[in-house]
Amino acid sequence: MRKNIVAGNWKMNTTVAEGVKLAHEVNQAVVAAGDSLKCDVIIGVPFTHLTAVAGHISAIGLAAENCADHLSGAYTGEVSAPMVASTGATHVILGHSERREYYHETNEMLKTKVDLALEAGLKVIFCCGESLAQRKDGSYFDVIKAELVESLFHLSADQFKNIVIAYEPIWAIGTGETATSDQAQEIHAFIRGLLADKYGKDVANDTTILYGGSCKPSNAPELFAKPDIDGGLIGGASLKADSFMGIVTAF
Ligand code: 13P
Repeated sequence: MRKNIVAGNWKMNTTVAEGVKLAHEVNQAVVAAGDSLKCDVIIGVPFTHLTAVAGHISAIGLAAENCADHLSGAYTGEVSAPMVASTGATHVILGHSERREYYHETNEMLKTKVDLALEAGLKVIFCCGESLAQRKDGSYFDVIKAELVESLFHLSADQFKNIVIAYEPIWAIGTGETATSDQAQEIHAFIRGLLADKYGKDVANDTTILYGGSCKPSNAPELFAKPDIDGGLIGGASLKADSFMGIVTAF
């Protein structure tokens, strides 16, 4: 059966010292909670923090927030998937809407990044989700389907074991406006249906699908109670150990 996961996405926040402190606090809280926790915990941190944070955690996973679409070479300023893996990171977040929008990442480019990440031994937290305009004009099912089909559906069923999907409606990110639990459940069930059509019921049932977008301790219990919502990808509320743990303990 699939795992529940709560993952933080710190985005471009914290210095290394602040990040190490936050990671340590989260790790200690997870250690203290022990077997009472009903989910795995991952933190997604800036590249600059990965190595230092890896040395301060024992009970949680560690994700980069991106990786390059090339393996190595003359790509000034880029960070490759093997470099990310060499820090001790276990995961990489790919396809976040902020990367798609501000850095022009396409489904095709993300397909390459997914392949490189898996080859490097990383698990991928793959983000998908529609804009407000796409929600309003009703094209959101097609948008989400294209994001998944064009970047992930070349993978084998075996490779898909290393994919976590995060549904993040862009209109709910950092806006304080959360998708209702029914709206999120509708999309999560749709995504699981796409996986079942492509890979069969077992893969669909084993794939963790996270919700992201203004998730906080107050709304996490209702979201996580839905049958196809297996946890969250958390932005703002992951920047303080107590609010992040308030979501981690929502199951
Ligand atoms: P917020 O939780 O700040 O809305 O961000 C969600 C997100 O983008 C996580 O990747």
